[in-house]
Amino acid sequence: MSKLLVTGGAGFIGSNFVHHVVSHTDHHVTVLDKLTYAGNRESLAGLPQSRVRFVQGDIADPAVVGELMASVDAVVHYAAESHNDNSLDDPRPFLDTNIIGTYTLLEAARRHGTRFHHISTDEVYGDLELDDPSRFTETTPYNPSSPYSSTKAGSDLLVRAWVRSFGVRATISNCSNNYGPYQHVEKFIPRQITNVIRGIRPKLYGKGENVRDWIHADDHSSAVLTILEKGTIGDTYLIGADGEKNNKDVVELILGLMGEPTDAYDHVTDRAGHDLRYAIDSSKLRGELGWQPQYRDFEEGLAATIDWYRDNEPWWAGAKDATEAFYTAKGQ
Ligand code: NAD
Ligand code: DAU
Repeated sequence: MSKLLVTGGAGFIGSNFVHHVVSHTDHHVTVLDKLTYAGNRESLAGLPQSRVRFVQGDIADPAVVGELMASVDAVVHYAAESHNDNSLDDPRPFLDTNIIGTYTLLEAARRHGTRFHHISTDEVYGDLELDDPSRFTETTPYNPSSPYSSTKAGSDLLVRAWVRSFGVRATISNCSNNYGPYQHVEKFIPRQITNVIRGIRPKLYGKGENVRDWIHADDHSSAVLTILEKGTIGDTYLIGADGEKNNKDVVELILGLMGEPTDAYDHVTDRAGHDLRYAIDSSKLRGELGWQPQYRDFEEGLAATIDWYRDNEPWWAGAKDATEAFYTAKGQ
């Protein structure tokens, strides 16, 4: 496998994946990205043009998708509308990209016999109670809560149907919350880091008891490459790094690492339908395919992420004011 099509490769996790592929394999990559508000070409700056080609286009456009699919061995499908808060404000783009876009890619993969890896989220499983000792597994029933997670669940089911009905050679991965460089400032960790840099108090939804299972984006990338190379066609793999933390602890950690008093944050209006807890059991991926995360110390990974945002203000400054204006209007 040497030619990859990476959809959404100018977004957070997609761009981390392209950097990972360039430094760990000899694959050639074509990025297909619409450059929505969430895409940033600068996230691919410095990569060799001999290995990485960029095409601006929509995954829901059958013409561009068909042409690109004809020239690659495999597609790794990251492109999505990805932010829960936006999906509560305006669900329509989530249907267009996450459902119709995935359908368009699957049809092209079916025509061209292309290997397909679909990137999805643990949010398709809904949430767990805070005191529930269990974690999500590949057999947990789907129970999504938000317009975002319901469209991701729909896209997963399309992939499963295209495998069974049409023989598309696809795998699916459902990963937990990612952190690391190149994440848009609308998301929890970069929002709070860039707030502190700007002298704005971090904003915690509700009581801050909600738990997320954090994984570094580079570990997500190595897991996806492992599944692409060794995964069983038709199978789903959960990706996680045993990183459960509640939001309050994460905000306090960020403040402490940035030299601020750990109580210098505000509680703001909670998210509608806010999922309580996500937790991943990734034993199948580790046991069957031999994958292991490299970032085992969350505090260390977070400190490196803080440094990245401090060192790369031009990358995020353009999006910061509009993002904060959106949240302020919602009381968040
Ligand atoms: P992101 O919002 O940072 O990036 C999405 C990218 O997709 C952007 O570059 C955007 O321009 C592009 N895009 C959007 N609509 C498009 C379209 N119609 N055609 C072509 N390109 C389009 O998202 P992310 O956080 O990097 O998430 C990437 C994928 O990983 C998503 O499928 C998401 O569901 C999944 N995921 C994310 C996380 C997480 O913690 N962020 C965890 C698990 C799974
Ligand atoms: O679990 C995987 C999912 O993780 C991905 O599928 C999504 O694409 C990704 O956005 C992420 O979803 P979350 O909703 O968990 O991430 P977000 O960064 O928006 O919020 C993380 C937690 O922090 C959540 O409990 C809400 C809370 N939060 C968020 C923001 C932006 C705050 O308390 N304050 C904030 O300002």
